Amino acid sequence: MRLAGTLNDAPNVTSASLTYSNSAGHRFVTVLPGVPARRRDDAPRRLRGVIVIVAGVAGSGKTTVGTLLAGRLGWVFADADTFHPRANVERMRRGEPLTDEDRRPWLRAITAWMDERLTAGQSGVITCSALKRSYRAVLLDGRPTATMVLLDVDPDVLRRRVAAREEHFFPRQLLESQLAALEQPSAAEEPRVRGIAGDGDAQEMAAKIIAVLWPSGAPGGEPGGAAS
Ligand SMILES: Nc1ncnc2c1ncn2[C@@H]1O[C@H](COP(=O)(O)OP(=O)(O)O)[C@@H](O)[C@H]1O
Ligand SMILES: [Mg+2]
Repeated sequence: MRLAGTLNDAPNVTSASLTYSNSAGHRFVTVLPGVPARRRDDAPRRLRGVIVIVAGVAGSGKTTVGTLLAGRLGWVFADADTFHPRANVERMRRGEPLTDEDRRPWLRAITAWMDERLTAGQSGVITCSALKRSYRAVLLDGRPTATMVLLDVDPDVLRRRVAAREEHFFPRQLLESQLAALEQPSAAEEPRVRGIAGDGDAQEMAAKIIAVLWPSGAPGGEPGGAAS
């Protein structure tokens, strides 16, 4: 009789199983409850294909905090602003809010970036304002290892930050339309969207995100991350 232990590959495995076959070629699987199953990736602890989306209105610190977060994790970083078609950038420069229609190709480009990472087993951090629940659903649905943190910053702090930001294409008045468009996520309805109070120092914010997402410690960097 051939006896071989197989370990399930799911992240929350709490039991191991044994697969064996007899001389007639019949295969049997026995689950051994209570036997701690070692995940293949337990040592060294390494996640493969995780995406963190850093969301929030203009000035909430997506680019600043997202860059720091990616650096701490050693993951690739992308800024959703760079995925806008030229026409969208021109509209925003003129101070015109984008419509759902305008945002569709942009969201498609962001999801394509995430799917490329996930297909390659690579992890990454990407920013996206993700103001509406429907946009968050487009970004998260079908991507179980994607998670979102929404930076929540006092509107007066946002106004000051956006006014002080010089080189950015985003005019001040668009902040007001973003604040109006923002649909606050509820923990019950969108459990994969975590609100993070965003008034602290940017480094503190990056550390806080890691502590919220991985209470038992940050995952290590990986090949193909920002550091490589
Ligand atoms: N946590 C923070 N504390 C203080 N200033 C910040 C913080 N995060 C970002 N900023 C500043 O606020 C401005 C907007 O930040 P940015 O990262 O461009 O926001 P977003 O990408 O969400 O529009 C920048 O000038 C940046 O330096
Ligand atoms: Mg930005």
